[in-house]
Amino acid sequence: MKRIAIFASGSGSNAETIAHHFADRPDVQVSLILTNNPDAGVIQRARRLHIPVVVFDRKTFYETDRILELLVNQKIDLVVLAGFMMLIPEKLIRAFPEKMVNIHPALLPKYGGRGMYGHFVHEAVVAAGERQSGITIHFVNEVYDEGKIIFQATCDLENSDTPEDVARKVQLLEHEHYPAMVDKLLSNLPE
Ligand code: GRF
Repeated sequence: MKRIAIFASGSGSNAETIAHHFADRPDVQVSLILTNNPDAGVIQRARRLHIPVVVFDRKTFYETDRILELLVNQKIDLVVLAGFMMLIPEKLIRAFPEKMVNIHPALLPKYGGRGMYGHFVHEAVVAAGERQSGITIHFVNEVYDEGKIIFQATCDLENSDTPEDVARKVQLLEHEHYPAMVDKLLSNLPE
């Protein structure tokens, strides 16, 4: 059985689509959802899905080994970031080489890096008059949004699209592709 841990800071719609994707699968389990945000929507979703949730604070994340120990004790095979808003400590990244994946709501390397998250991304895309946006699924390394790109999917934009319209189009792509890519990564995990 392969075990996934999902980190999320917000609504958790991607976490939920991933959980649904594997719900009937005897070989894969979403074993844990972790969040730094005690008000995150993902907590209610996790409870509804009967997935254990761990809420942690900044100090625990950056100044102790507790999260790393938890992932190791839980025998987590793949760490999935889905709207997780904190930079991952190096120690955690090193413990999951090419076993930690993130989704970014734009076509990296454009519109990535510090400050490029949530609506800021879609506002920048619209302000630049881009004809397309999309999603990027990538491995996580020490630099924001710069890990090896695994997959991208695009959507066409209209002149009249607002940042909210772009967000909707991008979210559809996320829900369509992230669970399937996680599934694919699980079947090709490095030793
Ligand atoms: C997604 O757009 C994801 O790409 C970004 O944060 C958002 C999370 O949405 N990194 P949700 O919490 O999964 O609904």
